[in-house]
Order: sequence, then C-alpha cells, then structure tokens
Amino acid sequence: MPVLECASLTKRFADFTAVDNVSMAVEQGSFYSILGPSGCGKTTLMRMLAGFERQDSGNIRIEGKSMTGVAPNRRPVNMVFQHLALFPNMSVAGNIAYGLKRRNTPSAERERRVGEVLERVGLAGSGNKRIEQLSGGQQQRVAIARCLVLNPQVLLLDEPLGALDLKLREHMKIELKRLQSAFGTTFIYITHDQSEALVMSDRVAVMNHGRFEQVGSPQDLYYRPGSAFVAGFVGDNNRWQGVIEQRVGAKVRVRTEQGLPVEAQAAAGFQGGVGDAVELFVRPEAIRVQLQDGGGEAENRLQARVIEIVFDGARSRLQLRQADSAQEILVNLPHTPEFATLGPGDRLYLSWHAHQCSLFTVGAGR
Ligand SMILES: Nc1ncnc2c1ncn2[C@@H]1O[C@H](COP(=O)(O)OP(=O)(O)O)[C@@H](O)[C@H]1O
Ligand SMILES: [Mg+2]
Repeated sequence: MPVLECASLTKRFADFTAVDNVSMAVEQGSFYSILGPSGCGKTTLMRMLAGFERQDSGNIRIEGKSMTGVAPNRRPVNMVFQHLALFPNMSVAGNIAYGLKRRNTPSAERERRVGEVLERVGLAGSGNKRIEQLSGGQQQRVAIARCLVLNPQVLLLDEPLGALDLKLREHMKIELKRLQSAFGTTFIYITHDQSEALVMSDRVAVMNHGRFEQVGSPQDLYYRPGSAFVAGFVGDNNRWQGVIEQRVGAKVRVRTEQGLPVEAQAAAGFQGGVGDAVELFVRPEAIRVQLQDGGGEAENRLQARVIEIVFDGARSRLQLRQADSAQEILVNLPHTPEFATLGPGDRLYLSWHAHQCSLFTVGAGR
C-alpha cells in the first residue's frame, strides 16, 4: 500500500489553476521527486500535502487515512524549506530538540534522540556548536535532522539545495540519497533541477502548468519521454521540427525543416502519418562521432563539418552542420586523443539509431 496517495487534487487562486487534477501514489520508503519549471505548481502541491493550503477538490490520504480537516501539526509529515529556517541563536542540538520539546518529550529521551540523529547525519559532537559555525552543507543536514528526529512517515523537501553553490549541491545530492536510504523514511522532493531528480529518485513526476505530464523512473523519463515537454526538460537534446515523409509500421522517415532526412522509430501509440508535422529529439550523447566512415548498422549515418567547438571541460560540445542540408547538429566532443586537434571546418562522420530518436506529433502529443 502506498504511504501517501492523492486523487484529483486541484487548487485555484482566483481564476488561475495552480494545481490541476493531480493524482499520485508514493510507495513507503521511496524517494519520490516532483520535477518542473518555476511556477508550475510544485510548492502549492506540497503545501496541500503538508496541510498549509486547502485543496479546492480532490483528497489526500496518508497511511490510508484521509487528511481532510487534519491540521498541519497533526499530519505525519514534516517539511524542509529552501531557506532552512534554522534558529541562528540556538545551538545545533537546540535546533534539533525544538520539535520534540513542543511535543513534550521528556528531556532524557530528547537528549538520547538528538544524540542519535546527530550521529546518523554525521554531526556527532557538533551538538553544542552554534548554527553559524557550520558550513552550508552541515546546516542542510541539521535542517533535515531536525525533521527526521520527529520520525515523520513522509518528509517533504522543497528545493532544499537551491541556496547552495554548485559543488556543494553535487555533493549533497549523493548525501541526501544516502540519508534517505539509511533512515528508510519516504521523501517527497521538489526541484526544478532535472539532474537532482535523476540522481536521487526512485520515481519522478514531471510537472508542467499544474499537471503531471509523466511519472516514471529516471530511466523512463530519459530514454522514453512521454511528451515533447518531458523530452525537452529532462536532459539535453537536438530538437528539430519536421514532417513525416514515409511511415511503414514503426519505421518513420522525417524530413527536418532544415532538409535533413532522419530515420526514427515510433513509440507504441504514436499516431502520426505521412504529411504530419512532428518534433524530433536526438540527444547529443546518443550520436556517435568518428573521424573516418566506420560503417556500422545505424539507420542514420551522415557527414558534417565542425562550425564551433564549445569548450566546457567534460561537457564540451561540437556544433556541426550536415554537408547536404542546413541542419545544425549538436554532439558531445569525444575526449580521446584523435579529437584533440579538431577545428572549425573539419569533417566528421555521425551515426545514430532510429530507436534513439523521440518523436511527437506537434500539438497532439503522441
Ligand atoms: N497564494 C497565492 N496566491 C495567488 N497565486 C499564487 C499563490 N501561491 C502561488 N501562486 C501562483 O501559483 C503558481 C504556482 O506557484 P508555486 O506552487 O509556488 O510554483 P513552483 O513551486 O512550481 O515554482 C504561480 O503562478 C504562483 O504565482
Ligand atoms: Mg516552489
């Protein structure tokens, strides 16, 4: 049984619908992320789960019990905010003990539980420090420990890494996932950062304009995006407009607006036929780049010339243009030595498989 379920949740602010008919089921002990651009309704959804906001329709059940009319402090959930809201003038232990104190937990038990949780988040011995003596990452762990010490069924986290710098965020992604699996607490995690969602989650719901566009594993979203929005939002892509020239079963040939013919494989349920306008997605990292024509089985094989090298260390890219069309193509720069002297104007051989394209009819989804 899922620990948290909601059905057809809707929230309107005047005539604007911030959360539109959202249903979800979160498994006990899982890491569930809600991923979407700023303003798509993530925080509003979470505030309804926590009880700070009342839905206009739909219902929420936690451990099988309806939350309708249940006050925030009576729900088995806790929330970690982006701006951690720690008490700066209290010690680390004081911050963590605060919630237990409000619940009238006896002081001996309080001390034991604070000590235990501090150890589990890797801050044993820091109980007497003041908050500002801790690094950003340590403060983050205190904010989480302060919630976990209350043994919530579900921990709600609203962009908790948003205020940290990039290096620390990369580190905390892995640390948060470890904390979650060590505690076994269900996490519902909101973010606009697709990498955070992919790295940490068991399941991800991609949200857009108040609705869930797709719910799946990180691999589902990356390899089998269910809509053009998901394909565009999760990972990087060459995104091309085109028209279907031929379709035989799942084999579809598209001509892009820039004149490049592309062999694609339609996913189950793809309705497009000859003459239909489509959007085609090919990931830069899915395209094989070679200096010589290596043959191979790939349905898409072409020559292109380097327009520009966008150097960004491990994430360096090549902007290319195909020889017989105006089509520009973005690929990853291989870091093997034979590419070290590559420059604008050089010729490369590209190939990718039909099943590595994602295809959507324009307007109608799949
Ligand atoms: N209390 C409110 N009154 C009016 N509009 C709101 C209120 N809270 C949120 N909104 C609007 O609802 C939309 C979704 O907001 P929010 O849930 O905060 O999005 P996210 O967390 O995904 O960035 C936004 O357009 C926001 O302006
Ligand atoms: Mg928000």
